[in-house]
Amino acid sequence: MGKGEGFGKVILFNEHFVVYGIPAIVSAIGARTTARVERSAGSGVELRDDRSETSGYKAEKFDQQKDSLDLMLKFMKIDIEHSHYTVTLGGSLIAASGVGASAASCAAITRAFSDELGLNFSDEKVNEVAFEGEKGYHGTPSGIDNTAATYGGLIWYRREGSLQIMERMRLPKPVEIVMGNTGKVADTKSVVAGVKERREKEPAKYEKLFKNADQLVRNAREQLNSLNLEKVGAYMNENHRLLQEMGVSSAELDALVDVARNVGALGAKLTGTGRGGYMVALTPGRDLQDRVAEEIGRKGFQALRTTIGI
Ligand code: MEV
Repeated sequence: MGKGEGFGKVILFNEHFVVYGIPAIVSAIGARTTARVERSAGSGVELRDDRSETSGYKAEKFDQQKDSLDLMLKFMKIDIEHSHYTVTLGGSLIAASGVGASAASCAAITRAFSDELGLNFSDEKVNEVAFEGEKGYHGTPSGIDNTAATYGGLIWYRREGSLQIMERMRLPKPVEIVMGNTGKVADTKSVVAGVKERREKEPAKYEKLFKNADQLVRNAREQLNSLNLEKVGAYMNENHRLLQEMGVSSAELDALVDVARNVGALGAKLTGTGRGGYMVALTPGRDLQDRVAEEIGRKGFQALRTTIGI
């Protein structure tokens, strides 16, 4: 039996902007997806998904998950004519929008096949295959999610043409965050396509938004490196505003962001695709983290306590 893992992630700055070559900051979170691959006689491949989920996520992503698996098998040149494979997904990462669930599963599946078949894939190769798998979910992924899922840690990421460029960032110590789940499943493909359409209609507006996002993430990087968290929080708030202008927030995300800010989070924003999925709040220290998570719970939403920069 082959085994593999992939990290869940949180995008701290510039989801969506990253698709257009603007840098972004992403961190792995504590939760991971695991995959097991078992080979037997016969042909074909069967996927068993034992991950816990936001209600409706697996059904909604079923076709995309199948496309993704097919793309990866083809890319890895796995012969499913003369062997049968059972792929089982599990682990602590919830199958939900905004936490990198699809990318984590792609990295985990790739590693499990590499393990089962003795392919000895490097992280670089795993990342390449996971990027291929992400195309099943995203259409035209920027590559940020598979990069975080494969390498973990805190990453400065940007796209330059077809190049995926990552630089590791290191924090003096991990910082507590809370992620709040709207409970809604988002379709990355259509939200990304919506941004593209609106940008084509209003190029001047988007040019300005992109310029602001580019400057913002560079400032945020500096402040994050020196753990100047009040400033980092303010930049997260500003990033949320830019994402709202881009049209990728939602009433639930805005409400969760307000809840977190009102009980003292240093900053809060949507994270990932938006329109549903998760928001992230910067909550250094266990007390603040608990306060924000509990308030989100009281409002009827699920809260995930985790850290960045591990
Ligand atoms: C989704 O986690 C992040 C997006 O920026 C899409 C992408 O980068 O491929 C919305």
